Amino acid sequence: MNKFTPPRQATARTVDEITGSRRLRRMRKADWSRRLVQENRLTVDDLIWPIFVMEGENRREEIAAMPGVFRITADLAAIEAERAARLGIPAIATFPNVDIQRRDETGSHILDADNLINRTTRAIKAAAPEVGVITDVALDPFTSHGHDGILRDGIIVNDETVAQVAAAAVLQAQAGADIIAPSDMMDGRIGAIRDQLDAAGYQDVAIMSYATKFASAFYGPYREAIGTQGLLKGDKKTYYLDHANSDEAVREAEQDLAEGADMLMVKPGLPYLDIICRLKDEFRMPTFAYQVSGEYAMIAAAARNGWIDGDKAMLESLLAFKRAGCDGILTYFAPKVAEMLKG
Ligand code: PBG
Repeated sequence: MNKFTPPRQATARTVDEITGSRRLRRMRKADWSRRLVQENRLTVDDLIWPIFVMEGENRREEIAAMPGVFRITADLAAIEAERAARLGIPAIATFPNVDIQRRDETGSHILDADNLINRTTRAIKAAAPEVGVITDVALDPFTSHGHDGILRDGIIVNDETVAQVAAAAVLQAQAGADIIAPSDMMDGRIGAIRDQLDAAGYQDVAIMSYATKFASAFYGPYREAIGTQGLLKGDKKTYYLDHANSDEAVREAEQDLAEGADMLMVKPGLPYLDIICRLKDEFRMPTFAYQVSGEYAMIAAAARNGWIDGDKAMLESLLAFKRAGCDGILTYFAPKVAEMLKG
């Protein structure tokens, strides 16, 4: 039998001796003192709301892998933008589910001034001009293979993609986009987009660089949302960052800033808080995180099963971005959080 032997009382120090009377729990003792010393806070001003749009009128479809998130038509996007304005959400980011017959090898439909993404921008701007519109300028919703670039002989060709993306950015600015957010990770895209925007007279249109976009499994539900999940052949490792790398992420951000990016984004979010922290420390630029579809799905699915408190997990995850140094977060929870913060 093991008999319990008490520690040698004679030499044991008291807690006050151990801590030198510094007791960190003192400030945690009550709600008022916890509020008083709280370092970071989430507000509605931190939110960017990503929405999915599709062709048609007055229709919405729930995305199976993202419970509570819908694909909506442009007219409904305008109504949602009015809701964003009422809630005080500063900006909306749009992602189109392009009709399959419009998709081709080069994503040429991105160069149609009247395509779904541009019509959505116009509808939102007409309904709620005070809400910022951020458009993704990548080719993946437009290509028949689901890649973000033009595919030639099995290779995503950089320079041709950059030229097309930069031309598309001008059309998006023309439609009323306030911020162009290229998510394709091609080399030189930021500088090329800046040149084209300036040449077309859009000096005031900003660029939010998806500076550090990692090749990630967390984009799964997004690909269902925009209908690329069955199309994508292979992976995106020749253009997205290796998720093992952190120094390379800093170099990407540095390059994008040198080319003219106004804001940086890290994507996905929660698994990459270290990258957010590094970029903010290094560059002191407006820095954003994209809490991506898979991150949303994990919280939403666990909450639906009663395995976690969904609202608390949502708020904790969003505050973590603030703590890491984010100025704002792209999150599918945006309308829900905004409502909670209001009420
Ligand atoms: C691609 C793009 C992706 C997302 C937005 N634009 C990634 C991808 O499909 O590879 C992901 C967003 C999300 O998962 O919420 N340009």
